[in-house]
Amino acid sequence: MIDRYCVFGHPVAHSKSPLIHAAFAEQTGEAIEYTAIEAPLDDFAGAWRRFTASGGRGANVTVPFKEQAFRLCDTLSERARRAGAVNTLILGGNGATYGDTTDGIGLVRDLERHGVTLAGARILLLGAGGAVRGVLEPLLAQGPASLFIANRTAEKAARLAADFRDLGTIEGGGFDAVAGPFDLVINGTSASLAGDLPPLPDDLFAPGATAHDMMYGAEPTVFLRWAAERGARTVDGLGMLVEQAAESFFQWRGRRPETAPVLEALRQAL
Ligand code: ATR
Repeated sequence: MIDRYCVFGHPVAHSKSPLIHAAFAEQTGEAIEYTAIEAPLDDFAGAWRRFTASGGRGANVTVPFKEQAFRLCDTLSERARRAGAVNTLILGGNGATYGDTTDGIGLVRDLERHGVTLAGARILLLGAGGAVRGVLEPLLAQGPASLFIANRTAEKAARLAADFRDLGTIEGGGFDAVAGPFDLVINGTSASLAGDLPPLPDDLFAPGATAHDMMYGAEPTVFLRWAAERGARTVDGLGMLVEQAAESFFQWRGRRPETAPVLEALRQAL
C-alpha cells in the first residue's frame, strides 16, 4: 500500500499543501499520496484514526484543528509543546502519534533565505494568537537582542511573553507601547484578512529593516504596502508556507526538498 499523507482542515479545499507536497514528491522521487481531508469540527481524533487505519502515515493540520491535534499526540516536540499546537502528525512504528509544529522553523528558514540575520536583531511581533505563539520558540532560539509582542488586547501579549520569558528577552503589551526602531517586524495578526492595519508609529523601522507578513496574496497586504512606503524590505507569507511544508516532508521521508522552484511556481499561480 502506498504511504498516504494529507492536510486536515475545515474548510480545506483552498489548501496549497497538496500541490506543494506533490512537487516535493516528484522532485525527490518519493512515492507518496497526499490529499486534502475535511475533518468534522467535533471529532478530529476520529478523522486521524480513520486515516491511519487506511494507510495514513502522517498529516499536516491547519485551521481549526491545530489544538485538537496537539491534544491527541502521544509525544510532542519541545517546540510543539511550547506552541500548544501541532501542524505535523507522524505515525510511529509502534502506532503512537508524534506531533511537531514546523511553522516557526519555516518562518526562520524563509527569513534566512532573504538574508535576514536574526541573531542580535530587535524584533517586533504583531498579534498574540496561535499564529504568533507557534513561532516564538524557533525565533528565540536564534538569539535576537529583543522581542516585543504587540497586540490589540494588551494583556494577551503580556501573558504570552511571560510564557516564554525563560527562553530570551521578551516583553508584551499594547500597540501604544511599541517603541522602535526594529530590524524585523512580523505581522501575525489576522488584521490583513480584513484589510486592516494595526495602529503603528511611523518610525518603526531601523535602516535596512525587514517587514514580514504571515499572510500572502496576489497583491501585497496592507501591512506590507505600509512598510514598503516607510523603507522596509518586504516578505510575504508564501515562503513560510513552502518552508514549513518542506520541514514536514523532511520529518516524514528523511529527504529535504528544494523549496525555491516550488515557491516560484506557486508565486506564478497566485
Ligand atoms: P491565529 O490563530 O491566526 O493567530 P487568533 O488566535 O484568532 O488567530 O488571533 C488573531 C490575532 O489577530 C489576535 O492577536 C488578534 O488580536 P486580539 O487578541 O486583540 O483579538 C489580532 N487581530 C485580529 N483582527 C485584528 C485587527 N483588525 N486589528 C488588530 N489586530 C487584530
